[in-house]
Amino acid sequence: MEIGVPKESKDQEFRVGLSPSSVRVLTESGHRVFVETQAGNGAGFSDDDYRIVGAEIVPTQEVAWNRELVVKVKEPLVSEYNLLQKGQILFTYLHLAADRKLTEHLIDCGVTAIAYETVEQAGANRLPLLTPMSIIAGRLSVQFGARYLERQQGGRGVLLGGVPGVKAGKVVILGGGVVGTEAARIAVGMGAHVQILDVNVDRLSYLETLFGSRVELLYSNSAHIEAAVKEADLLIGAVLVLGRRAPILVPRELVAKMHPGSVIVDVAVDQGGCVETLHATSHTNPVYIESGVVHYGVPNMPGAVPWTATQALNNSTLPYVQQLANSGLQALEINPSLGKGVNVQNHRLVHPAVQEVFPDLVSS
Ligand SMILES: NC(=O)c1ccc[n+]([C@@H]2O[C@H](COP(=O)([O-])OP(=O)(O)OC[C@H]3O[C@@H](n4cnc5c(N)ncnc54)[C@H](O)[C@@H]3O)[C@@H](O)[C@H]2O)c1
Repeated sequence: MEIGVPKESKDQEFRVGLSPSSVRVLTESGHRVFVETQAGNGAGFSDDDYRIVGAEIVPTQEVAWNRELVVKVKEPLVSEYNLLQKGQILFTYLHLAADRKLTEHLIDCGVTAIAYETVEQAGANRLPLLTPMSIIAGRLSVQFGARYLERQQGGRGVLLGGVPGVKAGKVVILGGGVVGTEAARIAVGMGAHVQILDVNVDRLSYLETLFGSRVELLYSNSAHIEAAVKEADLLIGAVLVLGRRAPILVPRELVAKMHPGSVIVDVAVDQGGCVETLHATSHTNPVYIESGVVHYGVPNMPGAVPWTATQALNNSTLPYVQQLANSGLQALEINPSLGKGVNVQNHRLVHPAVQEVFPDLVSS
């Protein structure tokens, strides 16, 4: 099959759909991969890195898009709409529930659009193509939090790990799922005092087997949240209620009781955030101060580490890309997990969750 890898057009998006090592796996199986020139530059992969593994470097996005299968990272932008073609397979993050215009266009143009975030399998790792980005965002949340605690960055000047004779900083994590667990892993590694609050007692038990007594595990209710947040140097929002806006767990009045210069990193900002005073920010302007507290709310945190994020994403997407390349649309039947990822096919909106958001776009 012919596979296209266009350069991402979104502002500050440096990830790329296929890494050179993924391209090598595909070309070794006899597929042709067309990579737009400089598509991998931002992630640290040169055109030569792709040429060596058998990719064909093409000069424009039009040539890269003109393929049976297009593999990307982010959703097509309006400027790319005219590049989509009937009968083509598009495999990328789409988040259609937040984008009516794109949903309408995908229905109109006749592509088969498969969204990474809706590829679904049974078992613990239910959304396998979302998990790698949650792992990265969780780990980054402590890295960024530690940086913004520095005095020169507006923080209160606390070293999370402390030093012998001076107590460690306190990290409070709301939500002990993938993001929360990975944040705790890094915070514990730094020597911080760590608390995780979650409403799922089974998850709290699991976290106990993972961290033992190195992390304090609390049931998430308003009393525990208030006591923990008031004393936090770094507060991390990591809650998720599937398909819903994140619940506001930290009201404005509680933020006002935090130490001046403490830091909030709300990773759940992409679902509305769990801190009342937090709004979305960007990699260009990541933080602002409100009630004396540093607020960080970047919704695409993995974009800060495109070299790692591209490879982590590829480790999870490549098996599905191989199936699509080998079997075309039949792959959707061979692998039901991939089939669940289909959002739009044959001019129809087919994903149940997106149908619920746009009932008027569902054809009878
Ligand atoms: N900003 C970014 O760049 C970025 C990147 C990846 C993920 N995210 C977001 O981070 C959030 C967390 O993702 P995840 O993969 O860890 O989800 P997850 O489902 O693995 O974990 C969410 C946890 O929140 C817990 N929870 C639900 N309600 C709670 C409450 N009232 N109090 C405490 N805990 C509660 C759940 O029990 C669960 O353990 C999501 O909104 C996700 O989209 C953001």
